[in-house]
Amino acid sequence: MRLLFAGILVSFTCSLYAQTSSPYHYAIQKKKVVANGAVVSAHPLASRAGLTILQKGGNAVDAAIATQLALAVVYPAAGNIGGGGFMVAHLADGRNIALDFREKAPAAATRDMYLDASGNARTDLSQNGHLAAGVPGTIAGIFAELKYARLPMSTLIAPAIDLAENGFAITAAEAHSLNAAQSSFKKYNTVGPVFIKEESWKAGDTLIQKDLAKTLRLIRDKGAAGFYEGETARLILEEMQRGKGIITAADLAGYQAKEREATVFPYKQYSIVTMPLPSSGGVILQQMMKMAEELPLKSYGFESPKAVHLMAEAERLAYADRAKYLGDRDYYAVPVKTLTSKAYLHERMSLIQPDKAGASKDIQAGVLSPASEETTHLNVCDRQGNAVSITTTLNGGYGNKVVVGGAGFFLNNEMDDFSIKPGVPNMYGAVGAEANAIAPGKRMLSSMTPTLVLDKGKVFIIAGTPGGTTITTSVFQTLIDILEFNMTTEDAVNKPKFHHQWLPDEIFVETGFPIEVREALQKMGYTITQRGSIGRTEVIKISGGKIEAVGDSRGDDAAEGY
Ligand code: GLY
Repeated sequence: MRLLFAGILVSFTCSLYAQTSSPYHYAIQKKKVVANGAVVSAHPLASRAGLTILQKGGNAVDAAIATQLALAVVYPAAGNIGGGGFMVAHLADGRNIALDFREKAPAAATRDMYLDASGNARTDLSQNGHLAAGVPGTIAGIFAELKYARLPMSTLIAPAIDLAENGFAITAAEAHSLNAAQSSFKKYNTVGPVFIKEESWKAGDTLIQKDLAKTLRLIRDKGAAGFYEGETARLILEEMQRGKGIITAADLAGYQAKEREATVFPYKQYSIVTMPLPSSGGVILQQMMKMAEELPLKSYGFESPKAVHLMAEAERLAYADRAKYLGDRDYYAVPVKTLTSKAYLHERMSLIQPDKAGASKDIQAGVLSPASEETTHLNVCDRQGNAVSITTTLNGGYGNKVVVGGAGFFLNNEMDDFSIKPGVPNMYGAVGAEANAIAPGKRMLSSMTPTLVLDKGKVFIIAGTPGGTTITTSVFQTLIDILEFNMTTEDAVNKPKFHHQWLPDEIFVETGFPIEVREALQKMGYTITQRGSIGRTEVIKISGGKIEAVGDSRGDDAAEGY
């Protein structure tokens, strides 16, 4: 990704600090320091759309909606109207908001729908093609967000319609990713989408999406019904029939975003505000932060073997609980209170050995008393003190790879985030059990962790990232890097990250993770596996009257502000 990013610089920017000027000539600004408001997202044109709305008098929610919709056009691998996500916001009046627009299982879904006659798991079906799609939640979510916005949808959706109708120049990273998905696009689509190209895509090629523009206009004119009913619903249903999918008109018409109580917990003098279930983030970020709070991480230092060891063990313990206990709370009684209680976490921490790797085969989920790559993230803040953190997803890159014929958008493959069979890893290697088994109408467990840190009631940090199961560990490390290791925002975003998720029993480290730390961890007994990028973290930090927005250098991510 870093090499690709270098390519974007060559292709698109004369100067890192040049202003984004048109959809055909734009720069990627990684950092903006401003006084009034800022946006950071996975694509410069989407961040630009949000900035335009802020400058027109929109608040952070207005700008987030415009950014989210623009991402559905300029970042088709993860930006979406055919997927789902979560919004966490802190409003200037002090309210914390948590919106759940996660996809849900269609009514015809069954617990064993991805098992063959011999009981073998068919991850090919849960990960690709029509059967992999959950009922999309994004558009219902955007209209639920609108309740906190000031400007009309027609204004907020205009940049997205324009980008879809008139096109934009794709980045080197997008060209690479479209080229890598060509055979899947050909295999799974019933109607050839604009993303299929006989010659390879290259940086600077124009992507025009007329069908998507038409769908966006229907949403502008008819509201959520422009997606869940009428022409768009008809096209989704026809697509389902052609590809033997199971989403019905009743599934679409019945979809509702849910406003949940935000998860709020203290960390030292701060309050952390994050997403509750069906995001696992609210539980396991809380577990990891509460364990970290009691460890002398600061004295060990960033990337010291001892700090990485202790943080990886906290991750291992939290992910073991995730596998057993976490799922949609509307369907399964998750013992959140116990799992996040100090007493329980102390007991769990007693399993950590000071200088030695634990072993996941010896660490099971805690015993409780009966009572009890691709996703995308954006942050926005405005001058009134509103702050928004949204993570949204199709699950895998380009979701289930199916573009709804005539409607121009990808559907998700979110059904793979359920536990399709106990112990069978999903595409992120996560295992699950009864709590996250498939049931009609149920929301699949997520890792998306849009998060805010408040200091004396004021927004201090807005953070989030894509990355499947690495999402929560990346948010955890980003917060610890800033709050404990006093790192700059840029370093907290860009320095190599690591990840432990209980199973498999290894620490994944990003390229660039120091070799001497790897060796020290191996001596403690860890298996270390190097992998590509971990997350694409976006952070806004507000302090001393200054707003600092930083986009991750692992991708096309860009900051804007004024
Ligand atoms: N599909 C990734 C997640 O929700 O965690």
